[in-house]
Amino acid sequence: MFDRFGRKIDYLRISVTDRCNLRCVYCIPSGGILRRPHSEILSFEEIHRIVNVAVRLGINKVRITGGEPLIRKDLHILIKSFKKINGLNEIALTTNGILLSDYTASLKNAGLDRLNISLDSLVSKRFEKITRGAGLNKVLDGIESAFSAGFKSIKINTVLIKDFNTDEILDFAALTRTRPLNVRFIEYMATASDDSPDDNLFFSCFRAKELCGKLGNLIPISEMPDGTARVYKIEGFMGTIGFISPISEPFCNTCNKLRLTSNGKLKNCLHPSKTIDLKEVLNRESADRDIAMLIREAVDLKPQSHSFASSAAKQEKENFSMCQIGG
Ligand code: GTP
Ligand code: 5AD
Ligand code: SF4
Repeated sequence: MFDRFGRKIDYLRISVTDRCNLRCVYCIPSGGILRRPHSEILSFEEIHRIVNVAVRLGINKVRITGGEPLIRKDLHILIKSFKKINGLNEIALTTNGILLSDYTASLKNAGLDRLNISLDSLVSKRFEKITRGAGLNKVLDGIESAFSAGFKSIKINTVLIKDFNTDEILDFAALTRTRPLNVRFIEYMATASDDSPDDNLFFSCFRAKELCGKLGNLIPISEMPDGTARVYKIEGFMGTIGFISPISEPFCNTCNKLRLTSNGKLKNCLHPSKTIDLKEVLNRESADRDIAMLIREAVDLKPQSHSFASSAAKQEKENFSMCQIGG
């Protein structure tokens, strides 16, 4: 599928739950979020049906997100069902890692291809502060367990938060010295969850990259299939570091994504002007045809770029909460 701006849309991010076992300050508002009633959440069969149609239209990669996807029971069953869809080349998962060590074997056996793990601090006290929870060691165990289960190219997502974890940038980059990890630094995007002025917590990837240069020459890795990040290897290191700069260098011109929320809304951008409800057509006899039509509509309406910096977007901030979109 191609959109109005000639972008090829072949990647679907699927949020399987908006619940989470952590409450990261930049993701979940301090007052919490309204829990969606169970009846509103798509069943695995419904998700499978949507993905099946989406793949026929040209989607070839899906990423399972949340909230925290691993709190959804029997996730391996969904992954196994995706495996049967011809033309779906890659199934990936983004997790906070807390429950990961319990599930790496079953995820691998079910056919999960890749894992991205969110981790913003290597200091226990800070981890607790940012996540309003506990479990740094569980996440670190989860990473080791993922290696043991045979996952390759494990990515670590680290959101840069000014004056909070930016003194750990070199520690994160140094993780790639002896492990084949891909550590990616993400620029902070203001959401409903923080009340501070937009630029208060922002730290640019440009500065992070400058700092990483202290560890050695940064060699660009252009052949890496990663649309969102600019990827480098520090000379002599085993893994890679990447920079995701949605604010300072938006990558919307190469965006290839659609997003499906846990209650069946299709979003054509992190910050869409319109969402499209797929759930309501799922029970129709003509469901597959209607789903296909709505997916095409979402692609046709995909905006040229996100609007984080515009004043309209700032007003909209109240409606934008990452845990319901899955990043
Ligand atoms: P790969 O398939 O490994 O490249 O993963 P990914 O980068 O698509 O997924 P991941 O869940 O690891 O996302 C990393 C982070 O990049 C997201 O959580 C967001 O913070 C940011 N991001 C990803 N996609 C977009 C996007 O379309 N727009 C913006 N503004 N940010 C995005
Ligand atoms: N800004 C940047 N990244 C964010 N994520 C969640 N909220 C934000 C935000 N406000 C990231 C998480 C996770 C990914 C799915 O989204 O750290 O790695
Ligand atoms: Fe949960 Fe991820 Fe949001 Fe943190 S960023 S609260 S781990 S969904």
